[in-house]
Amino acid sequence: MADKFDVIVIGAGPGGYVAAIRAAQLGLKTACVEKWVNKEGKTVHGGTCLNVGCIPSKALLETSHKFVEARDHFAEIGIEVGDVSTNVAKMLEFKQQVINKNVGGISMLFKANGVTALEGAGKLLAGKKVEVTGHDGSVETYEASQVVIASGSVPVNIPPAPLTGDIIVDSSGALEFTEAPKRLGVIGAGVIGLELGSVWSRLGSEVTVIEALEEFLPSVDAQIAKEAQKLLAKQGLEIKLGAKVTGSEINGNEVEVRYADKDGEKTQAFDKLIVCVGRKPYTEKLLAGDAGVELDQRGFIKVDEQCRTSVEGVFAIGDVVRGPMLAHKASEEGVMVADIIAGHKAQMNYEAIPSVIYTSPEVAWVGKTEQQLKAEGVDYKVGTFPFSANGRALANNASEGMAKVIADAKTDRVLGVHILSQHAGELVAQGVIALEFGSSAEDLALTCFAHPTTSEAIHEAALAVDGHAIHMA
Ligand code: FAD
Ligand code: NAI
Repeated sequence: MADKFDVIVIGAGPGGYVAAIRAAQLGLKTACVEKWVNKEGKTVHGGTCLNVGCIPSKALLETSHKFVEARDHFAEIGIEVGDVSTNVAKMLEFKQQVINKNVGGISMLFKANGVTALEGAGKLLAGKKVEVTGHDGSVETYEASQVVIASGSVPVNIPPAPLTGDIIVDSSGALEFTEAPKRLGVIGAGVIGLELGSVWSRLGSEVTVIEALEEFLPSVDAQIAKEAQKLLAKQGLEIKLGAKVTGSEINGNEVEVRYADKDGEKTQAFDKLIVCVGRKPYTEKLLAGDAGVELDQRGFIKVDEQCRTSVEGVFAIGDVVRGPMLAHKASEEGVMVADIIAGHKAQMNYEAIPSVIYTSPEVAWVGKTEQQLKAEGVDYKVGTFPFSANGRALANNASEGMAKVIADAKTDRVLGVHILSQHAGELVAQGVIALEFGSSAEDLALTCFAHPTTSEAIHEAALAVDGHAIHMA
């Protein structure tokens, strides 16, 4: 038997690496096992988020956005740049540099905080032992007082469109196209479909998004979703709702996709097809038969509010457990669990987790939507404010969208904040703080916001809750 640790974390994504660093900062002898290897065969930390998720997708979203700004909008504000073109190879190189910096940063933080990085696949055995199979096949077993599982998730595959690795790809493949495909099909108008669909549309692809549901972004506030749908369509994304993919066939260098909508069966040919219909928890070869950790029917590790599994002293966090599959949710659970292990009282507020879709403009929200409140029978009031009436948004030449504050009709407590705008993902943090602090719409309305900032739209929306936005007729 090798070393004994206070805490062993399995998985070094944003859930696991944060849990490990926090545990070490709290004085616990901590190890983190990671099996992800990059193309060079080197173990890399950061999981889905840093390697093939949040970070690389945002690098491509930013570069493709800058391209569109330069090509279509610089002239509007008096910057003449002539013909603007893209160099996708250089964009991919930039994306890789961004990944490398982030990933390298985690390994450095492990060293700085004294986290032992164990390289290989971790398997939980009975009695809180963790077996680690190294990349060279060597096997070592470690003991821990407490174990944190943070093994993440993987994309869902669907039988009508099996991945081929070159033409039919998942989100990871879609981050690696070496040029913009002429005709790009996207199955699923969810977060990945809209973000990566936007990237390649901006870089020149004709993008068709095929979505099974009739409703566009059903978990987003309906007023915001409707506006976002219009803007994305204007940018060239063709979004087919109520269209279910029934099959696909590779013909040479293209794929023919069959789908059924209200008018019957149709086919459409694409040069590339991205399948992004959701992700599922990943527990392959993770749990020994007698480990005792229970899964639910959908394969998630069963946990309580504080991420305790069915085995005492074994926690699970992030995408592998219930709740939104978001990096910041995984990380906050990591902090909570490390604090609990160190003997502190800790709890997470699952009602105040923000969501952001990084399209242009961005869609960001926290708390309840109008449709949720209606379904729950809650009496509420709403204030909205358009960015077209916000001075800074106009100066930024980015005045699409709106801010919306929803408050309880009786108590005035803020129940939801919904934003469609440039940098909505940054602005929504103000809504998160309002929800977290249990503030009222009046609290927001009586707060002094800097001028000129796009944040003022939130202030105005809060004022509008009681009908008194200043810059609205
Ligand atoms: P992961 O990041 O999946 O990490 C799990 C880690 O565990 C992996 O490194 C894996 O190799 C390792 N592992 C698994 N099993 C074992 C084992 N047995 N032994 C050793 N190691 C193991 N979320 C956001 O909040 N914002 C975004 O903008 C965003 N963009 C995204 C874009 C894309 C294209 C994708 C695919 C996802 C995006 N997400 C985003 C989601 C985000 O990446 C996940 O919610 C987040 O990574 C979950 O963190 P995690 O630590 O639970 O799991
Ligand atoms: P998603 O759940 O966001 O969207 C999947 C979409 O596919 C849904 O609209 C669903 O109705 C549709 N769908 C399912 N089966 C289908 C079929 N057979 N035919 C047509 N449509 C079908 O999942 P997505 O986009 O794959 O992303 C996975 C997760 O990754 C997200 O839920 C999110 O948690 C995370 N993520 C977060 C991001 C962010 O925070 N900005 C960015 C990207 C991913």
